[in-house]
Amino acid sequence: MKNVTNSNVLNLAGVVLAAGLGKRMGSSLPKVLHKIHGTPMLQYILNTLYGLKPQKIVVVAGKHFKEIRESIKDDSSISFAQQKEAKGTGDALLKAWPALKGFKGTVIVINGDIPLITRETLKKFLTLHKKKGNVISILSFMAKEPGSYGRIIRGEAGNITSIVEDRDATDLQKNIKEVNSGIYAIESEAFPILKEIKLNESKGEYYLTDMISIARNKGIKVNAYCTGSEDELMGVNTQEELERARQLMKDRIIKRWMDRGVSFVDTVSVSISSDVEIGKDTLIYPNVHLEGNTRVGRGCTIYPNVRIHNSIIGDGVVIKDLTLIEGSVVKNRASVGPFTHIRPGSEIGKGAKIGNFVEVKKSVVGSGTKAGHLTYIGDSKIGNNVNIGAGTITCNYDGYKKHITVIEDNVFVGSDSQLVAPVKIGEGAYIGAGSTITKNVPSMALALSRVQQRHIEDWALKRKLKVRSQKSRAKNRDKRKKVVSSK
Ligand code: UD1
Ligand code: CA
Repeated sequence: MKNVTNSNVLNLAGVVLAAGLGKRMGSSLPKVLHKIHGTPMLQYILNTLYGLKPQKIVVVAGKHFKEIRESIKDDSSISFAQQKEAKGTGDALLKAWPALKGFKGTVIVINGDIPLITRETLKKFLTLHKKKGNVISILSFMAKEPGSYGRIIRGEAGNITSIVEDRDATDLQKNIKEVNSGIYAIESEAFPILKEIKLNESKGEYYLTDMISIARNKGIKVNAYCTGSEDELMGVNTQEELERARQLMKDRIIKRWMDRGVSFVDTVSVSISSDVEIGKDTLIYPNVHLEGNTRVGRGCTIYPNVRIHNSIIGDGVVIKDLTLIEGSVVKNRASVGPFTHIRPGSEIGKGAKIGNFVEVKKSVVGSGTKAGHLTYIGDSKIGNNVNIGAGTITCNYDGYKKHITVIEDNVFVGSDSQLVAPVKIGEGAYIGAGSTITKNVPSMALALSRVQQRHIEDWALKRKLKVRSQKSRAKNRDKRKKVVSSK
């Protein structure tokens, strides 16, 4: 094994260990699938790995193999290996070996619970690994409280001799602040060493970290490098650590957007998923949540208590308080909210105003169109410069099927109208307030379907007189009763 060396060319493969049981999370969801701002921890690590352009990535999954495979965004460079029983990190890496068959070069191994790791740190680490000609390198960091991390044990010359897990460490070793991050660079030829790892009796697992002392005893070149910060290299084992990782990730994402000219009013309650993009001069108020593949344009204002999921928001858009937008497009200079729900498959046109207590579902709303108050627009195609009065409802469902409502350009829909689909309102037509429209309305017509108003002369006056005389008769009756009873 002594002749195992490090070649100069960086042929890179990645392995992510994700087969642990994650018992300390106290959750039935596999640990690596716990989300940070909408993205599973494992996905963050894979995204970082993609940036290094490895030839191959192997994810080792265990009991939750199917769930993990299905939750990961498809990428042809990923293959999956299964570790049926969680017998430790050493055994997990051994299970990845067959999937790396034929690969010759450096394998970067990452524990699946280090979501904050950055490409820059991995690059620095790999450069050192190559430059120093190591066969195995360990990425270490200085921990304020080393807690459950494995301690880096260095010999007199300062070289790493072994990693001792916290549970096996002596009191003296427990004081060591330099710890193992769970990220390793291993030359592929060194993989046979994994078979020599012995079962650790105290935990009943095969520790990957034991590979270090075995390699050292064989005279193989091993080194540890302290190249990243504690915040970036933290391992997530508990719910508390997951929440800390969320905070750190949030700070990192928000800082990135601030650096690009986005303003925030009090970031404490804001969350932004890592895939979101925001244009400069956009202003974001408290309790705003931007999720999934959302893109927000330039110069937008997003007022408090707004959630936007997988949506595209144009430039100069104003989104007012307490609004939810899902899977939709809002075009330039439109205004949405307050209290508005834009449901999937909708498109709000340029300069449109969709306002107070309005729900839009799977509908296209043209530019300059206004629906300002208490309206439901479902399965509709609405043209430009349409005015939808307060309380208008598109009745799109007959109990069995959904039907389409078409409203052409420049239509005026009076308040409290119901448009019973399928129905089409021709260009420039007017719908009188309070109408129930069941037939297509021709262009430029006025449609009215309410009962004609009629007046009954003096009805109110006669009623008033009648009530008054009833009251005085009742009074007289009471008086007579009193006189009789006093006799
Ligand atoms: C591990 C390291 C420790 C290091 C720490 C850094 C070992 C023995 N210890 O400890 O030195 O300081 O990470 O965060 O490696 N996994 C499997 N199969 C298994 C067990 C675990 O795939 O049988 C995966 C887990 O899903 C996880 C990763 O390996 O993503 C690390 O496992 P975990 O149990 O979190 O190890 P730590 O105790 O944190
Ligand atoms: Ca861990």
